[in-house]
Amino acid sequence: MVRGVIHIINPYDPGKFPEDISKKYGISKAEIISLSSNENPFPPPESVKKVYEEAFNKVNLYPHPFYRDLKEKIAEYTGVDEELIAVGNGASELLKMICEVNLEAFDPVVIPIPGYTLYAILAMLMDASIRFLEFPGYRIKAEEILKENGKLTFLCSPNNPTGNLIDGKELEKILRKAEGLVVVDEAYTEFSKKSHLKLLKKYDNLIIVRSFSKFFSLAGLRVGYAMGNEETIKAIEKIRLPFNISGISAMVAKACLESVEYFEMIRDEIVRERERVLKELKKFDGIGVYPSDANFILIKIKKEKDFEKEFQEFFERKGIILRNVTGLLGLDGLHFRVTIGKSDQNDKFLSALEEILG
Ligand SMILES: Cc1ncc(COP(=O)(O)O)c(C=O)c1O
Repeated sequence: MVRGVIHIINPYDPGKFPEDISKKYGISKAEIISLSSNENPFPPPESVKKVYEEAFNKVNLYPHPFYRDLKEKIAEYTGVDEELIAVGNGASELLKMICEVNLEAFDPVVIPIPGYTLYAILAMLMDASIRFLEFPGYRIKAEEILKENGKLTFLCSPNNPTGNLIDGKELEKILRKAEGLVVVDEAYTEFSKKSHLKLLKKYDNLIIVRSFSKFFSLAGLRVGYAMGNEETIKAIEKIRLPFNISGISAMVAKACLESVEYFEMIRDEIVRERERVLKELKKFDGIGVYPSDANFILIKIKKEKDFEKEFQEFFERKGIILRNVTGLLGLDGLHFRVTIGKSDQNDKFLSALEEILG
């Protein structure tokens, strides 16, 4: 029999995928534009593909149990000591392990909303007591967060789904006084060029989590890392499953770190497109737009609730998948999140929007 809490957890909603709509609307998968999962529209470069292909020759062997080569490269990339780095099967696995090693039943966990929905699921799994704090537009206020005295506080910068950064001064105010651990999720940090990394040297109650799924175009391979709080990193190393990242994933992630310039180039292209799309979106009277430091933009559709289905289906019929985040805790009214794609994909999204909203 599964535990009682499992019955009350709402599963993580991954949105729709091309497979889900191609049959329904008779559109080939190749034609579908997925602007739903904040993936990078550009694949890694040829040099990384070569490493991927060569890695196949080693699939009969286990990877190195401590992933030293990968950690060494992450340490070089971030300037953080290797001993303070843990790697995992996506940022998701690290977030889960941070909860597993820190939370007892009924421990208070602070989650500002609107935010990334996985934090609540993971905290619930540990029978923790969640304190959702609503900050319109995700403008975090340190005093309100500190009042809750979280054993764990989940922050996200840039935040999913609002796209904005956490103010550095507010974050420092929290870190200076918080007795529990503060997790800063920087899955999208490279799109903002602003990280809170330097605070790791100053505050040992901070842990920063990052992903290879966005900037490094590796969503399909599942690699992430956590840096900071020594006690937590050591505990994660103790309890993580042996060989939690595949050998191929570890080798390819390392190769990506050897091609940072390529990824910076495509990042700059995505950021240019983000600013162009943002400007175009602002021309629509019927839309509220959230400025973004990430590779997605949150929009509010100023229509009644019954327009939600029509809006979503209109795009799906055209083979464009958006993320419907209407009803997410902390968001009022119809909201959709749009990933920044390649230029022609963004154009198709904008002209479909023009067609439905005029
Ligand atoms: C804020 C945030 N954190 C973490 C993740 C999970 O990333 P990963 O693919 O590395 O598990 C996501 C994925 O969308 C995200 O939006």
